[in-house]
Amino acid sequence: MCAKLEKTDSQHITYESLLQGNKDWVAATLQEDPSFFDRLSAGQKPPVLWIGCSDSRVPANQITNTNPGDIFVHRNIANVVVHTDMNMLSVLDYAVNVLEVEHVIVCGHYGCGGVQAAMSNKQFGIIDNWLRNIKDTYRLHYHELDIISDPKKRTERLVELNVIEGVFNLTKTSIVQNRWSNGKTLSLHGWAYSLETGFITDLGVTCNSNDHMANVFRIAESAKKA
Ligand code: CO
Repeated sequence: MCAKLEKTDSQHITYESLLQGNKDWVAATLQEDPSFFDRLSAGQKPPVLWIGCSDSRVPANQITNTNPGDIFVHRNIANVVVHTDMNMLSVLDYAVNVLEVEHVIVCGHYGCGGVQAAMSNKQFGIIDNWLRNIKDTYRLHYHELDIISDPKKRTERLVELNVIEGVFNLTKTSIVQNRWSNGKTLSLHGWAYSLETGFITDLGVTCNSNDHMANVFRIAESAKKA
């Protein structure tokens, strides 16, 4: 663990060092807990689904001080949640209906390059199509965002709004609504992580029923399918 903390940059990471690192980790883990892999290989029952950014600086387990087996993870650039994304929907369905997680956390982070790119007018390539979802979120909230004169603060607010819209987009799925109508416990949360301090901020948008959802997004019982 100490050796890991001593690493201040990634320049020394090589293909070979990754494999050696794995051997070192197995040895250290077994020394601390000889039954670690026996226990972990028996199955998983994580209580949390994490939907976060692919950014290498925001690893779900480390920043929440948790272990392998504790968090089911889905990551994409800028932690975008859109209901046409089959990858996200498959992860959500498996997590909610098979693993029966009780919490889904959308975690964005301040200083997100994806959000910064979405705020610019530059072309970056294929990724522009993905980031356009964030531009849609900007358009939904432009009254609030346009009056923030400090570019950094404006970007930080869009990071938060991208998370909040992501949480709301989860509530719109039949996966989440069916879970709630079946009387199961499921809470959706929006978080923002600070690269500068290491602290997570709970954005206070926790949803655990469709009570506050705009009527247009509610799915009628008779129309509900998995
Ligand atoms: Co990011």
